[in-house]
Amino acid sequence: MQEKYIDETKQGEAFAIAERPENGKKLFLESYGCQMNFSDSEIVASILNEQGYNTTLKVEEADLILLNTCSIREKAEQTVRMRLSQFKKQKESNPNLTVGVLGCMAERLKTKFLEEEHLVDLVVGPDAYRDLPNLLKETEGGRDAINVILSKEETYADINPVRLGGNGVTAFVTITRGCDNMCTFCVVPFTRGRERSRDPHSIVNECVELFNNGYKEVTLLGQNVDSYLWYGGGPKKDFAKASEMQKATAVNFSNLLAMVATAVPDMRIRFSTSNPQDMSLDVFHTMAKYDNICKYVHLPVQSGSDNMLKAMNRQHTRAEYLSLINEAKKIVPEVAFSQDMIIGFCGETEEDHQDTLSLMREVEYDYGYMFVYSERPGTPAHKKMEDDIPADIKQKRLAEVIALQGELSRSRMKSYVGRTHDILIEGTSKKNENQWKGRNSQNAVCVFDKLEGQKIGDMVSVFVYDNTQGTLLGRTAE
Ligand code: SAH
Ligand code: F3S
Repeated sequence: MQEKYIDETKQGEAFAIAERPENGKKLFLESYGCQMNFSDSEIVASILNEQGYNTTLKVEEADLILLNTCSIREKAEQTVRMRLSQFKKQKESNPNLTVGVLGCMAERLKTKFLEEEHLVDLVVGPDAYRDLPNLLKETEGGRDAINVILSKEETYADINPVRLGGNGVTAFVTITRGCDNMCTFCVVPFTRGRERSRDPHSIVNECVELFNNGYKEVTLLGQNVDSYLWYGGGPKKDFAKASEMQKATAVNFSNLLAMVATAVPDMRIRFSTSNPQDMSLDVFHTMAKYDNICKYVHLPVQSGSDNMLKAMNRQHTRAEYLSLINEAKKIVPEVAFSQDMIIGFCGETEEDHQDTLSLMREVEYDYGYMFVYSERPGTPAHKKMEDDIPADIKQKRLAEVIALQGELSRSRMKSYVGRTHDILIEGTSKKNENQWKGRNSQNAVCVFDKLEGQKIGDMVSVFVYDNTQGTLLGRTAE
């Protein structure tokens, strides 16, 4: 199934843009996993730009190969190992080539990476990218270099990301890093450290700058955006120790959304990921108030069974989740939801599985990202629970969940037919070069015939006349 949020075809895609003509060295940078990694790669490219590196799409001409890696499931790690093995010949024939691993796998495996993968010279965790210039000096001297120190403060707030390989229309802006939840299946708290929020002014400034550079949509990113809290610095965990003044002027996620929506009124605003336990109704009221905040929430639930939610250490029940969804639909009637589900978690019974299916029917998700449980070393589930659901049962349940989501998506897409939608043109349709591709506020993809005078980045009023399971078919409205 699809990796989270990112188009399957983008996994492992290398991005490059012409940066500084005076730069002599070439960086080949590939990203795997979630949007956060793709966004972090833009920070890395920016840091290395200052060090004489321009990005390239041709791996064979690279002086430095970096893979920004994902640990969320075993398969994600296997993909990276396979990719690394493909650089072996190039490394043997070019002793000056440096190969580095960034991101979650670097953080999880640390020095083990250098022991296990001999062609890797450089291992850098997600909070240590500022140290890249020093680390590269070490590798130039022929030594391996590693920095996997996690930080309680680092947000890269002052680094202006180099926008890599995008369409010039939509961009990501990171607002929080790390995660303080301890979902028992999840490796993220171990690979990305404590949750910390970025200064809201630096976020607003970045959005304004994007708008001034022609961007039309921004997605605010974090592992758990609803938990955003800025009070003048430090990790969220230390908020209790903040001064009265800091507490009085603190900015939470719905405040931040309103700030961004006001600062860039002609830009669309999206956000991801929301966590049900931290999502307040305030966020939905803010969505309702500002037209430019898209009416779409990715709200992972992982399971529809209370037993499983408890075993996963998710801090809400099925009933609380459903009540949040129902309240949200009252506040923002046109809101669309998508889910993440983990299938076959430790101890999942057929009844638990049926609970997942019935919850999906109740919510009527527009989309879903569905995964078979993959045990991750070091997580609470790995330490204390047994990964006891046989692979064939996991696959059978996964197939049922995917089939149901297919039905739900089709019927949700159908509900958009016969109406006019504002579609932001993001590019040309992959299947037909005479058609544009874009999304409506609810994040549904829409294709429609190109008309003269239309261009990428335009917001077009499109009448939707039909749909497939995942796409709206439209034509420019009169
Ligand atoms: N911060 C997000 C999730 C980040 S991980 C949240 O609050 O939900 C992205 C998704 O990967 C998760 O939602 C989960 O569905 C899936 N995932 C995480 N760990 C997994 C594991 N061990 N096996 C299978 N899927 C997993
Ligand atoms: Fe992972 Fe749960 Fe955080 S899924 S990223 S520990 S909210």
